[in-house]
Amino acid sequence: MTLKDNYNRDINYVRIAVTDRCNLRCFYCMPEQGIVYEPKDHLLSYEEIIRLLTILGQLGFTKVRFTGGEPFLRKDFTQLIEKTAALSAFENIHITTNGTLVQNHIPLLKKLGITKLNLSLDTLNEERFKKITRRDDFSKVWDTLQVLIKENFSVKVNAVAMNGINTEDIIPMAELAREYPIHVRFIEEMPFNGGAKENQKIFSSKEILSTLHKHFPDLKVLSGKHGDTATEYTAAHFIGKIGIIPAFSRTFCTTCNRLRITANGEIKTCLYDGGVFSMRDFLRSGATDLEVKEKFIELIRLKPKDGFEAEKFTTQSVIRNESMSSIGG
Ligand code: GTP
Ligand code: 5AD
Ligand code: SF4
Repeated sequence: MTLKDNYNRDINYVRIAVTDRCNLRCFYCMPEQGIVYEPKDHLLSYEEIIRLLTILGQLGFTKVRFTGGEPFLRKDFTQLIEKTAALSAFENIHITTNGTLVQNHIPLLKKLGITKLNLSLDTLNEERFKKITRRDDFSKVWDTLQVLIKENFSVKVNAVAMNGINTEDIIPMAELAREYPIHVRFIEEMPFNGGAKENQKIFSSKEILSTLHKHFPDLKVLSGKHGDTATEYTAAHFIGKIGIIPAFSRTFCTTCNRLRITANGEIKTCLYDGGVFSMRDFLRSGATDLEVKEKFIELIRLKPKDGFEAEKFTTQSVIRNESMSSIGG
């Protein structure tokens, strides 16, 4: 059984931000001084996360992605993934990480069969990395990428494409997919940056594509999987793929299969809604498993048609002040 929303979409992929803390300060995500972190007891506990995943498993969810902030910063994160792997409902356990803290956990990830990692990396230039993330960790992330490739992980590199900031990285980063069996995905910038900056004109997926086309005239679009955010491409002699994620243009909503749980236990049925229900408070008020199940079913049914409809019911200041670090991307 898979739950359907009112637009007949199957909803079976949950993204959980396990922490709002991050050890980088990417300027498109948060201000230099960071966001105001939630007190620890406002975050979902280990037991609450496992309880929600167990219930979602019973509701037909098969894919979970752990995000943050940086998920590996959470002290009990390794216990969380071990327990999730033991739940058996989730054939697919994925992690989105900034790659600074992964290396010590590689043996455990392999043991658990968690081999699908999305790595955030916006540039191949050390100086630009420092400017974008406000931290000096390029070599750590680059080493992590190399180790993951060597260890046969299935890696997607996420690069937020920003005009004038990392434009010159687009081609060298795309070239990585010629040399390595990885997906390199360019993402349109979204306004969720914790109030860090005014929204500028975004570098659109069309502009990203035309930049790629100029360099790779034989770029060929591939047919995607249902629910994919990225349109994928290949070019001659590539062993990996290039992807473009129109996260701001929101052209993939008709096949959206996602539900989000933010670090403080807020449910988002769309990235662009302001949060529709506090599952944390519901759990802490003594809700039974059956009540939680019914609540999920009700919320999922009401998932908005697309990110534009969701945005209509949210104020711009809510959107601008949210950070991907607490939403979980
Ligand atoms: P896969 O599961 O590997 O397809 O990855 P994903 O694209 O779902 O997840 P990831 O965490 O790597 O996110 C990559 C980018 O896509 C981030 O910038 C996300 O915020 C964006 N993204 C993911 N899901 C959605 C969504 O539902 N709507 C929008 N607009 N953007 C999304
Ligand atoms: N716009 C687009 N993508 C963003 N990410 C973080 N903040 C933003 C933003 N404002 C990306 C990160 C990470 C993914 C989960 O979301 O680079 O790869
Ligand atoms: Fe941290 Fe990711 Fe936000 Fe960068 S985008 S500050 S890595 S949570």
